[in-house]
Amino acid sequence: MSYQSEYDRSVNDPEGFWLEKAKLIDWVAAPKVGLANDAQGIERWFPDGTLNTCFNAIDRHVNAGRGDQVAVYYDSPVTETKKAITYSQLQHDVARFAGVLARLGVTTGDRVVIYMPMVPEALIAMLACARIGAIHSVVFGGFAASELAVRLSDASPKVIVTATCGIEVAKVIPYMPIVNEAIEMADHKPQSVVVLERPQAKFTPVQGRDHGWSQAMETAEPVDCVPVSATHPLYILYTSGTTGKPKGVVRDNGGHAVAMTYSMQAVYDMQPGEVFWAASDVGWVVGHSYIVYGPLLAGCSTILYEGKPVRTPDAGAFWRVVQEYKVKVLFSAPTAFRAIRKEDPQGAFFQQYDTSSLAALYLAGERLDPPTYHWLDELTNLPVVDHWWQTETGWAIACNPRGIESFLPKAGSATMPTPGFKIEVLDPNGHAVEAGEQGSVVIKRPLPPSCLPTVWGNHTRFEESYLNPYPGYYLTGDGGFIDHEGYIFVMGRTDDVINVAGHRLSTGEMEEIVAAHPAVAECAVIGVADELKGQMPLGLVVLKDGVTQAPEEVEKELIQAVRSHIGAVACFNKALIVERLPKTRSGKILRATLRKIADGEAYTTPSTIEDPSVLAEIQNRF
Ligand code: COA
Ligand code: AMP
Repeated sequence: MSYQSEYDRSVNDPEGFWLEKAKLIDWVAAPKVGLANDAQGIERWFPDGTLNTCFNAIDRHVNAGRGDQVAVYYDSPVTETKKAITYSQLQHDVARFAGVLARLGVTTGDRVVIYMPMVPEALIAMLACARIGAIHSVVFGGFAASELAVRLSDASPKVIVTATCGIEVAKVIPYMPIVNEAIEMADHKPQSVVVLERPQAKFTPVQGRDHGWSQAMETAEPVDCVPVSATHPLYILYTSGTTGKPKGVVRDNGGHAVAMTYSMQAVYDMQPGEVFWAASDVGWVVGHSYIVYGPLLAGCSTILYEGKPVRTPDAGAFWRVVQEYKVKVLFSAPTAFRAIRKEDPQGAFFQQYDTSSLAALYLAGERLDPPTYHWLDELTNLPVVDHWWQTETGWAIACNPRGIESFLPKAGSATMPTPGFKIEVLDPNGHAVEAGEQGSVVIKRPLPPSCLPTVWGNHTRFEESYLNPYPGYYLTGDGGFIDHEGYIFVMGRTDDVINVAGHRLSTGEMEEIVAAHPAVAECAVIGVADELKGQMPLGLVVLKDGVTQAPEEVEKELIQAVRSHIGAVACFNKALIVERLPKTRSGKILRATLRKIADGEAYTTPSTIEDPSVLAEIQNRF
């Protein structure tokens, strides 16, 4: 099959194309309609189909005789634990945990927030929700109480599923104080909390609210899969937007199951029974799609790795896991490989392990910078695939579709549009730019299956953020270009979103926290280039007149404020106190110019600037 014919069919006859791909999964009622507009005028996939995602991810494989195959390898260097869970065992545990949820009153359409570290129970809880048609919302374990609280208020869950702690290398992070504080802060209080008691941290249950995981499981009755409409939400996953309030990306059941299953074959070239490893976290979209749903829907074995690329115990950790489980495809973020390269530039660890099972490396989360690409390419002699995607799409918008046809890679490019995605690059007036010219990267509607149909509880925000800027298109928020051979280069965000160690964060949200400090008159938070983490946030802060507090003291408090509001993952470690900020005559802060100054790049003084002398003042501070 050639990529071109597959791609052309996907954009010329999307309905026919996706109805055919819908046969990759099992339906309770197979869809006859590919695509139809909902009441809000949004294109929805397979509106007359019914299915159960958990059935497709587990029961279907057990029924087909794959029950003894390993579904999940849990590898936790931080607790020195390893487990292999077969599809049959997974079915047993998921059906029972679905029973726990059902007993707590959770039913189809109810929300369940999952705030858990990288343990099998996180994945079991997600699949148990899917089994009964409940909507899960996983919150990354590195987020602080107020981030969890915002999500509790927005998703209004009946139940929270959590654990007593997460483990960061050797540091135990107790979760219960965070959960308790978040419930205290949230507008909505869940009825029940199910707590996985880990040996590293004990907890005192709140009577009438908290239930221990193991006791609840002992007495639970298994529950069968509940059929839901293809358009019924499977999950909500919050992602950073430009303001302090994250956006609840909604994922439906049908389109998602089809796109995931198709992608495992077309994008990653994976077959049932093979081992796939996404070294990410279940709290991020990569974890949802390619630790949990994609590999299981495709009947593969997935790896749940509770560790880091380095320090658990060393920079050979990734290669050790590849050898141990015979991983075929390893998917991670460029920052993880930069961390490995920093500690093991010659690749001594790579030579130490047998990595012959590896067919390819896939990277996403941020642009794969050419130096990291070349290092990996030379070290491994494997296809190194940069692929571009977002929480909103749930799968790759552009990739080297090795399951269909392999393209010669170009360093810095995410290669070709994935079938289903019609990518264009537009100028600010909505006109297509010439090949090689940079602009705003957009996707022509209809978006393919799995992409978000709305923002949870705020459809207006969905339309305003993504659909209204360029009518007929979805705005990705990324800038880039397509070269003369059709290769896509995604260069970075065009909004206030930054990417720190593969984690998507909002500078707008950090600005709101910094600006709330009593000594701060105004501020700008920008992302500056960082060798290891890609970008790091930097605060530029103007103090109020008459503030007598020492600048170092203010900086310390601002760092602490961001850490306690968002979490340590924000990596907000530097706030520079300045006299003034550069602004346009209409009062807009010139963030793009600030970024260039901070990165030591050449810049032109914007013609709209109110007072050009501020730029020299700022430059002197770096
Ligand atoms: N729970 C609690 N805290 C967490 C956390 C979690 N799940 N994840 C990170 N943190 C904390 C860290 O402990 C650290 O805290 P500290 O400031 O007290 O030391 C802080 O957040 C920053 O963490 P991180 O950015 O991860 O830096 P690091 O130096 O510990 O590790 C890397 C650097 C590159 C090894 C690491 O960021 C990494 O593995 N990145 C890959 C990310 C990824 O897979 N992203 C998914 C997209 S595909
Ligand atoms: P997230 O929603 O957390 O997955 O972050 C999505 C954002 O990460 C995208 O909008 C891009 O800015 C960036 N991103 C992810 N993958 C890539 C990639 N391969 N190349 C360039 N940017 C990427």
